[in-house]
Amino acid sequence: MKLSVSGRAAATGVVASVTLLVCGSIAGAAPAPLAAAPDIPVANVKAHLTQLQSIATANGGNRAHGRAGYQASVNFVKAKLDAAGFTTTVQQFTASGRTGYNLIADWPGGDPDQIVMAGSHLDSVTSGPGINDNGTGSAAILETALAVSRAGYQPTKHLRFAWWGAEELGLVGSRHYVNNLSATDRSKIDGYLNFDMIGSPNPGYFVYDDDPVIEKLFKDYYAGLGVATEIETEGDGRSDHAPFKSAGVPVGGLFTGASRTKTAAQVAKWGGTSGQAFDRCYHSSCDTTSNVNDTALDRNSDAVAYAVWELSE
Ligand code: TRP
Ligand code: CA
Ligand code: ZN
Repeated sequence: MKLSVSGRAAATGVVASVTLLVCGSIAGAAPAPLAAAPDIPVANVKAHLTQLQSIATANGGNRAHGRAGYQASVNFVKAKLDAAGFTTTVQQFTASGRTGYNLIADWPGGDPDQIVMAGSHLDSVTSGPGINDNGTGSAAILETALAVSRAGYQPTKHLRFAWWGAEELGLVGSRHYVNNLSATDRSKIDGYLNFDMIGSPNPGYFVYDDDPVIEKLFKDYYAGLGVATEIETEGDGRSDHAPFKSAGVPVGGLFTGASRTKTAAQVAKWGGTSGQAFDRCYHSSCDTTSNVNDTALDRNSDAVAYAVWELSE
């Protein structure tokens, strides 16, 4: 199935001209307005990050694959989704001799042959709590899922959210998921959106340039905010969208930068500190709740919801 966006602006224009012509005649000629994506409260996203930090702190300072902090992270996210009415599934796999878990959450309803997925890895490295990498993506898609539930959103397409295990060991969980889909089930995924590191402390605004429809959606969102974007190039294929892309699924995503250095030209666009990494605490013990830029997290969380709504309606 080809990916498309229904196009709110174009549809609104049509409705306006039709209304002029039929005004006062046949009732109900105008279609119902499309549901607008909600503004995701960044305070809620940050509250999830606080919980993930507490989980790391209580479990030896990390949330890594095969460790207690990872299991606790899965339990935390799963409980929120179950309470919100999602159908959750925990998929097990083995990596480096330890059991790993993917958490999958399906929102009941929508066309099962047209699935829109959003995913983020939930594991950290062993050396730190992994709050920017990747508490931020995990918390943003969690809050977007909760917003779907709060809105009682019933899109045309089926919505599925995923929290991947063992990304830091080489995309193990997401690859396991994709490899275990039949060719038929793979073909039902209209698009996969990936969010890995979306609140870097010295942020850039990077958009994956994979599927052109998804790329345009994110670029348009940022253009609407008056914020410049660049194409993501810091290690193409270095996150969980790669297995989907390899399997022929249209993919896209957002990223605020890892260990690369922010240039003076980028500071001119986005502010921040030139000559310094986007995330100086990448894969380190200082990747804590202090290692997040709230503005970047807010904008990207809102962009997640915008893309999920637009692609599924
Ligand atoms: N996935 C990497 C990690 O978790 C970080 C990373 C590097 C990345 N380059 C990227 C994430 C590009 C998304 C896009 O350690
Ligand atoms: Ca917001
Ligand atoms: Zn990551």
